[in-house]
Amino acid sequence: MTQRVLTGITTTGTPHLGNYVGAIRPTVQASLEPGVESFLFLADYHALIKCDEPERIERSRLEIAAAWLAAGLDPQRVTFYRQSDIPETPELTWLLTCVTAKGLMNRAHAYKAATDANEAAGEDPDANITMGLFSYPILMAADILLFNAHRVPVGRDQVQHIEMARDIAQRFNHLFGRGRDYFVLPQAQIDDHVATLPGLDGRKMSKSYDNTIPLFEGGAKGLKEAIARIVTDSRAPGEPKEPEGSALVMIHDAFADAAQREAFRADLRCGLGWGEAKQRLLALIEAHIGPMREVYDRYMAHPEQVEEILQAGARKARAVATPFLKELRHAVGLRPMVAVPRVPAKATPAAKAAALPDFKQYRENGLFYFKLTAPDGRVLLQSTGLAEGREAGAWVKRLRTEGAAALDEAPVSLGEGVERTAVEAALAALMAAQE
Ligand code: TRP
Repeated sequence: MTQRVLTGITTTGTPHLGNYVGAIRPTVQASLEPGVESFLFLADYHALIKCDEPERIERSRLEIAAAWLAAGLDPQRVTFYRQSDIPETPELTWLLTCVTAKGLMNRAHAYKAATDANEAAGEDPDANITMGLFSYPILMAADILLFNAHRVPVGRDQVQHIEMARDIAQRFNHLFGRGRDYFVLPQAQIDDHVATLPGLDGRKMSKSYDNTIPLFEGGAKGLKEAIARIVTDSRAPGEPKEPEGSALVMIHDAFADAAQREAFRADLRCGLGWGEAKQRLLALIEAHIGPMREVYDRYMAHPEQVEEILQAGARKARAVATPFLKELRHAVGLRPMVAVPRVPAKATPAAKAAALPDFKQYRENGLFYFKLTAPDGRVLLQSTGLAEGREAGAWVKRLRTEGAAALDEAPVSLGEGVERTAVEAALAALMAAQE
């Protein structure tokens, strides 16, 4: 069976070298594996949670889409789309919101971090926290469950969100599945051998540390300037240097093959100057990135081409999402208006009839009688003898339709040892069965 792999990229910021090594490159490579069906999307609804500047949202979507395409993502092979082009996503978000425990959301790391920070600052715990941030994991669950992804490659910080998606999926399946599992339970996939790239200062490369090396923005010049700022120790050319633990070497490792890694280390130990080492690093990265940058620049100059690719991706994604959401709407009871049974038919009609009391009419010595018997055969009501068969039939009809209300007038007596309440219950059961 093909495995469906899905991941989203929040479209805030400009891709940097850490994004390339940690996410773009491994994901593009994984999408080429046989037996996998990849779904990759720009999580621009998620971006709105963190950013209220429309121009930045717009720009970041384009840069990120162009970067992925330039890095070799094949939109023919991969379903590559924008979250906000899939109206089924917010619709499913609502269906899931209605089955998600608020307590589960209270425990989400991102929300807890925000309330903790507020409390530490002596503020109201929910100060400046939007419902978007609070419900973030539900939107993410909808992204994943809408396509029934088996595997979701994410960073460690996202594992809790995948677990929440599983919880929510299970809850929905349990409530509405009636023996069918609508949703696959997704599995987080964490790539442990993809190293996190250090930034200029040696800490993890991250926009929040302001220590990034741009991937394409700023061109070859921007790359060169950033590499020049990588922090090294102060050993002069000619002095032996310790390669292990150096950010420069780790960044080099991310682009070098085994022989290049070894040679670089040996040369540093023999006194290669940091300046020259930086030039070698620049040449190595540029050989890798340079050709991609040309593609990137072309897409940035022609956003309409990116738009077209994403629209085609949305059509592919919706070919899956639209029919599935129809089923989900039906599952929760949002269905076309048709005649619906007032009482859900739980027992089969035959089983029901067998369990009901019954009227019987008979003739004896020229008189007409009727009696009401319980399912177990006990006589509940016995009529007196009536001159006319029609009369007996009319009383049976009244007792069937009016129930206990007709009891006092009817020419009947209670069966031996039978309580009136038992007769009333039996008549009520007959009336209910007729409806
Ligand atoms: N929240 C993810 C992140 O910040 C991005 C994302 C949104 C995502 N929806 C997703 C990732 C669905 C995987 C699957 O990295």
